[in-house]
Amino acid sequence: MDFNIRDIQLAEWGRKELDMAEKEMPGLMAVRKEYGPQKPLNGVRISGSLHMTVQTAVLIETLAELGADVRWASCNIFSTQDHAAAAVVVGPPRLGGTPEDPRGVPVFAWKGETLEEYWDCTLQALSFPGNSEAAGAGATGEAGTASASVIGPQLIVDDGGDATLLVHKGFELEQGSDWVDSPSESSEEEIIKNLLKQVHQQDSSRWQRVTADLHGVSEETTTGVHRLKRMAAEGSLLFPAINVNDSVTKSKFDNLYGCRESLVDGIKRATDVMTAGKVAVVCGFGDVGKGSAQSLRGMGARVIVTEIDPICALQAAMEGYEVKTLEEVVAQGDIFVTCTGNRDIITIEHMRAMKDEAIVCNIGHFDNEIQVTRLEQEPGISHIEIKPQVDKYVFADGHSVILLANGRLVNLGCATGHPSFVMSASFTNQALAQIDLWKNRDSYAKQVYVLSKKLDEEVARLHLDKLGVSLTRLTPEQADYIGVTTDGPYKDDTYRY
Ligand SMILES: NC(=O)c1ccc[n+]([C@@H]2O[C@H](COP(=O)([O-])OP(=O)(O)OC[C@H]3O[C@@H](n4cnc5c(N)ncnc54)[C@H](O)[C@@H]3O)[C@@H](O)[C@H]2O)c1
Repeated sequence: MDFNIRDIQLAEWGRKELDMAEKEMPGLMAVRKEYGPQKPLNGVRISGSLHMTVQTAVLIETLAELGADVRWASCNIFSTQDHAAAAVVVGPPRLGGTPEDPRGVPVFAWKGETLEEYWDCTLQALSFPGNSEAAGAGATGEAGTASASVIGPQLIVDDGGDATLLVHKGFELEQGSDWVDSPSESSEEEIIKNLLKQVHQQDSSRWQRVTADLHGVSEETTTGVHRLKRMAAEGSLLFPAINVNDSVTKSKFDNLYGCRESLVDGIKRATDVMTAGKVAVVCGFGDVGKGSAQSLRGMGARVIVTEIDPICALQAAMEGYEVKTLEEVVAQGDIFVTCTGNRDIITIEHMRAMKDEAIVCNIGHFDNEIQVTRLEQEPGISHIEIKPQVDKYVFADGHSVILLANGRLVNLGCATGHPSFVMSASFTNQALAQIDLWKNRDSYAKQVYVLSKKLDEEVARLHLDKLGVSLTRLTPEQADYIGVTTDGPYKDDTYRY
């Protein structure tokens, strides 16, 4: 089995944490119980690009238990929990694997990858051995790129759209696109282009073969869904997509309640700073921003929100937050958090005007909400690493800012992401999406879909017992009166929760 992780000896520790997580993930465990015996994903090749955490490990092993042939990479250079990766590679106890003889799922991820390593790992996760020769190939790099016998996934689980992007850009290159030779906006874009050129040199029809066999992607997050919708609108989407993010039991739980727990966790583990009494500026008041602002306020911070959308700005004001522009409050804030999914939210000019030792971090998907590249490159700014994922940038006038996780997801870079319970809801949607994409593969078009309201309600239902919730049952008369059935769905599709 090929894999590339930090240290396989961490597997025993990882397994103990997986065992704990399983108890907190009733939705995923119910999926195993209901679908495990039928193996609806039997032999289906699934590539995952999603934070390689303990919770994701439970998702991976659920997909494997449904019969899938899974390969996995992380979707962030800092988010892997190395012990979780090791446990997944060794495999669950029933398979009898050991660090010397691993029998689990191939994982290509470790905490603290370089960007080159990251994209190489993504490629590895997309590269299934097509025959026994390729299966024996080495742990890194070449196996994914060299052999024409390598085959691709039939389904993808994506978070942020990087795996989907690689497939699309590779396919477009084979169709004559000159994107790989165009000027790059970032060093990361250059790395992707170089990787694709390398693959193309070795095998100029690889991505056509891959896409011919690919039946769909289920996408985890807001930013990835934006990318998919844009491709669908342009007509360039190569396979069907399920937007898991917009299941109510994902975005209204993970993005909101997940960030409510994991944002402050990340800031605290990184800095140990006292939040009470501080001025925290939250940029963006969508689902992530609402959870982030609430947790900071809960710790006693005085929270100020920035927004571009009048509805979200009004919501923030009605919740009792001040709503200002960043320029108005930049000199006041002690902690800055971006959660917009947009670019250039905190610029170098903003950071120049901040208080000494202001903490700057991002909880949106990519690393361009804060102008980190300019911070690194601008003359007169010096850099001191405090510890991994915590960096101080000192400006010429002597004031400094503390940047967390290099401007990437602070909750996954400086902490361990959301707790298991909320990830159970997200990942139950992922598992159901994968089952549906495969089962109904002949009826999906190259569009972006959401799971049905009925399934969404079912995901919620699976999480009620654990919390001791007693659900009221509609009488037939009541159901008739509000125009639903006693078994749901209880809301129409336009209801916003
Ligand atoms: N870290 C995590 O665990 C995690 C979890 C879920 C989602 N995400 C990511 O977080 C980001 C936000 O997700 P969301 O679901 O809250 O999206 P959302 O669309 O609900 O919220 C984003 C908000 O930012 C606002 N915004 C956009 N540009 C702005 C600007 N220039 N200034 C101020 N506000 C601006 C928008 O109006 C919107 O209200 C996405 O990148 C998503 O992928 C992260």
